[in-house]
Amino acid sequence: MIRDVLRMGDPRLLQVAKEVERFDTSDLHALIADMRDTMAHLHGAGLAAPQIGVSLRVVIFGVQCNPRYPDAEEVPDTVLVNPVLTPLDEVQEEGWEGCLSVPGMRGVVPRFVLLHYKGFDQYGKPISRDATDFHARVVQHECDHLDGILYPMRIRDFRQFGFIDALFPGQTESAED
Ligand code: NI
Repeated sequence: MIRDVLRMGDPRLLQVAKEVERFDTSDLHALIADMRDTMAHLHGAGLAAPQIGVSLRVVIFGVQCNPRYPDAEEVPDTVLVNPVLTPLDEVQEEGWEGCLSVPGMRGVVPRFVLLHYKGFDQYGKPISRDATDFHARVVQHECDHLDGILYPMRIRDFRQFGFIDALFPGQTESAED
């Protein structure tokens, strides 16, 4: 079921989400099905449970040759529960981000370039991966939602934050995340 995505300003987006304690439950599967439907409907690259008003540490993400991200490498379709992120290098890089909770806008955000992440899938099976560049950026963005952090809170230079059609005039893509 497609759910409403909360927008920046809603205090529920600022909460620290709770860990999932039981895996492979009908509630967890229903949550992930709703998250997938909602993300697909809005053509997102990722979605965190708090964005649909569920304060649990669950994120989904994935990018397959999305025409909206012509330069982006593919990101595997992933359900990540109770994630733990560990930067593998202190190097950060600035890059454009958007968010389904901040529709119509883009900003330049610093993120770690090289990252290890671990967690579980919805069945409780462990996930442990290294990620770089765009993949690492997506994971950091989504997991920030679990700690009540929206990407504008990480922007250093607000001259690189604005409305998509004003920032990139003439581009017809109506990207929303
Ligand atoms: Ni977001």
